[in-house]
Amino acid sequence: MRILFIGDVVGRSGRAIVQERLPGLIADWKLDLVVLNGENAAGGFGLTAKIAAELKGAGADVITTGNHVFAQKEFTGELPGLANVLRPANYPPPAPGKGSCVVEAAGVQVLVMNLIGRIFLDALDDPFRAADAILADNPGVKVVFCDMHAEATSEKTAMGWYLDGRASAVVGTHTHVPTADARVLPGGTAYVTDVGMVGPRDGCIGMDKDVVLQRFLTGVPNRFVVASGPVTFNSVLVTISASSGRATSIQRIDREHV
Ligand SMILES: [Fe+2]
Ligand SMILES: [Fe+2]
Repeated sequence: MRILFIGDVVGRSGRAIVQERLPGLIADWKLDLVVLNGENAAGGFGLTAKIAAELKGAGADVITTGNHVFAQKEFTGELPGLANVLRPANYPPPAPGKGSCVVEAAGVQVLVMNLIGRIFLDALDDPFRAADAILADNPGVKVVFCDMHAEATSEKTAMGWYLDGRASAVVGTHTHVPTADARVLPGGTAYVTDVGMVGPRDGCIGMDKDVVLQRFLTGVPNRFVVASGPVTFNSVLVTISASSGRATSIQRIDREHV
């Protein structure tokens, strides 16, 4: 089966590209499932029910998130009612929403899980043990797709090795910068340290560069806004044997839309 994972969608311009292009990609690449990280979809920070519905309307089957998941105030109330929209599983249990879901694609059950790292991010629960618990709760599901949202490359690489042979794919998100290390690990887990983003190319990881620079140059907090201009589209296409759950390939698919 063929699963496309799309990196963090940033703001209105990122959403517009997803809405414009994704239906065609689903047809052209014969995709069975689309997973997308939506943590920056609402004005660069967070997600709303309305925007999640738009992204699903464009073809996203599952939406994962990350550290910005609760940036939009109304979303804490909205999230529990949204099917197949995840927050990282290792948030403390009372947090709204859930960290994994099982969906059907091409007649096959697919477990999607969302984890978040603890290095240079809030100190949440242990993502490694959270992954173990989710796998233990879903013993019959062979195809397992994991979004490991983390800043540190080491923590994402470690999760790839930890789940090698137990997940079909472990893909990193959060830095918005695509990495060149996509490969299938020896146990059959497709891995990439960071998928990248769908967002403005000429900013600082999607945000207006002058505003970000101002903060670096002065240390004075200011309000980040989404950059304008050409949009980068970063994704990975993973092919998986449905019978074994092992990945057979992972391929970066990166585009630029001017
Ligand atoms: Fe992000
Ligand atoms: Fe993030």
